[in-house]
Amino acid sequence: MEAKTKSTSDSDEWHWWLLVAAMVVLVTGAAYVTMWRNFHEHRHEVPQIRRPPEGFVQKYSEALRVSTQFFDVQKSGKLENNRIEWRGDSGLNDGKDENVDLSKGMYDAGDLMKFGFPMAFTATVLAWSILEYGQHMEAVNELKHAQQSLKWITDYLINAHPSDNVLYIQVGDPEIDHKCWQRPEASTEKRPATQVNNSHPGSDVASETAAAMAAASLVFKNQDPGYSKLLLGHAQKLFEFANNYPGVYSKSIPIIQEYYNSSGFVDELLWAASWLYHATGDHDYIRYVTVVHGNAFANWGDPTWFSWDNKLAGTQVLLSRINFFGMDTRIPIVESMNLQMYRRTAEALMCTILLPSATKEKTNGGLIWLNEWDSLQYAIGNAFLAVVFSDYMFTSKTPYLYCNGKLYEPINLRDFAISQADYVLGNNPMNMSYLVGYGLNYPKYVHHRGASIPVGSITSCQDGFKWLNSTRPNPNLAIGAVVGGPFLNDTYIDSRNNSMQAEPTTYNSAFFVGLVSGLVASTSVVRSFT
Ligand SMILES: *[C@@H]1O[C@H](CO)[C@@H](O)[C@H](O)[C@H]1NC(C)=O
Ligand SMILES: *[C@@H]1O[C@H](CO)[C@@H](O)[C@H](O)[C@H]1NC(C)=O
Ligand SMILES: *[C@@H]1O[C@H](CO)[C@@H](O)[C@H](O)[C@H]1NC(C)=O
Ligand SMILES: *[C@@H]1O[C@H](CO)[C@@H](O)[C@H](O)[C@H]1NC(C)=O
Ligand SMILES: *[C@@H]1O[C@H](CO)[C@@H](O)[C@H](O)[C@H]1NC(C)=O
Ligand SMILES: *[C@@H]1O[C@H](CO)[C@@H](O)[C@H](O)[C@H]1NC(C)=O
Repeated sequence: MEAKTKSTSDSDEWHWWLLVAAMVVLVTGAAYVTMWRNFHEHRHEVPQIRRPPEGFVQKYSEALRVSTQFFDVQKSGKLENNRIEWRGDSGLNDGKDENVDLSKGMYDAGDLMKFGFPMAFTATVLAWSILEYGQHMEAVNELKHAQQSLKWITDYLINAHPSDNVLYIQVGDPEIDHKCWQRPEASTEKRPATQVNNSHPGSDVASETAAAMAAASLVFKNQDPGYSKLLLGHAQKLFEFANNYPGVYSKSIPIIQEYYNSSGFVDELLWAASWLYHATGDHDYIRYVTVVHGNAFANWGDPTWFSWDNKLAGTQVLLSRINFFGMDTRIPIVESMNLQMYRRTAEALMCTILLPSATKEKTNGGLIWLNEWDSLQYAIGNAFLAVVFSDYMFTSKTPYLYCNGKLYEPINLRDFAISQADYVLGNNPMNMSYLVGYGLNYPKYVHHRGASIPVGSITSCQDGFKWLNSTRPNPNLAIGAVVGGPFLNDTYIDSRNNSMQAEPTTYNSAFFVGLVSGLVASTSVVRSFT
């Protein structure tokens, strides 16, 4: 789908929208009537909302302290306050050939590539987690740490955007990189920086970067207003670039297709605009996601799973906030109706998660499972959305979610999120913790160059492969890594060369940090990020 950059406010369109609006009123009205009828057959009073027990959950506090450390494991650049004894400075010359300092940021996974698309997404999810659950993080002394990890990425993203229509989206050549097995500290390979620009556009990666920066601008708003403004300025410019030069970055730069192939950019445009609305309060962004592009881009009524490639589910949940916590009365009726559609689609996703018919996408052990590559990302990414959505329901005192003739409570969504977190932490048929460093039985052969090579060993590009081949467990602990995860039959092969299952990613850790920080305690989420 191509991005439409012109607005569509002609009078014909208005008539059409009024008709749609009227139909939406009728349909939603009918659904409500059915719902209330169902309701009153069983209950005569609106009951108390069942809430989770008060207090801090030790297990999730501990899991949070472990999982945030993976960002330290993945850092590139001149390290500050390094917590990982086997890590040191690396990538110091990244970007130099292009006269930009791209030394910071994070390695994406088990290799030494810095891929901008998933890196920015990691930052967006981490920023969202801090915005929803910063209080919980603070209570277990992890807030500052999470903010510093976020800033390590956003510092990089600022430098990656040196002029209006230029964004560096990658450092390192994946073909060269994957022919070597080395610690990042020892690498001497060429590390070219690759850009998108107006002749080779990338609306997906530019929008994701805009989303990350807009969300981070909210995180730093009070403590560092100057930095926050700087981020917001970049976010707005990047969104314009994304919008004015529509294109899929993996079409512009085909080599990326083997690694992070993007299926399209309209989801990222909506996602970025939604974050920009929260960061600015500017009503134009609401128009953008509703009457201008909602109908063509948003796939209302048809929920999809949240992942590094598809941001629609995240957009629906994020925009539901506006609906849950009070509509701005200046938002015109048609736009409000469209926002309602986002919330309804988020509810449809929650129903897909909860309803028994979803079992075909679950393992016998109870894990949401869609793909054998990085299987855990779907479980934990969508469990994060479930805990956020359940908290919107608790905070707004919304007692029920209505799914195909049945009523569910917010606690049902939270219980689902708990089931996914607990599976990762070891409550699964393998009795294995997929969070490295948590519990005793976690993967010991994580597919990770730095973790697999002893610090003192001298390796060049090729001979480092003896450490991939080694039958001994990793000498260094990739603490906080959330590995790819199990097969559909709940089994896992702990083998270093099993990159499908044994390779961790930064966005897995970001999802998991979000999920467990939501489960650490049960207090209300804030009604406004600003
Ligand atoms: C635009 O980006 C492409 C792809 O990265 C690159 O080959 C080209 O040199 C860039 N254009 C300019 C003017 O730098
Ligand atoms: C990348 O995605 C595009 C669009 O979904 C698809 O046409 C293309 O075949 C994919 N490339 C690879 C190598 O999978
Ligand atoms: C996991 O633990 C349970 C209960 O302790 C035990 O019955 C089961 O055999 C264990 N499974 C594996 C694969 O070790
Ligand atoms: C590692 O194992 C592969 C496949 O068995 C082999 O081809 C390669 O020579 C080994 N490399 C080193 C450095 O031991
Ligand atoms: C589980 O599934 C994987 C991948 O399909 C398969 O290779 C493996 O043999 C299966 N294990 C068991 C115990 O069925
Ligand atoms: C690792 O697995 C890949 C893909 O399955 C294979 O091509 C490679 O030879 C393996 N390397 C070693 C060292 O076993």
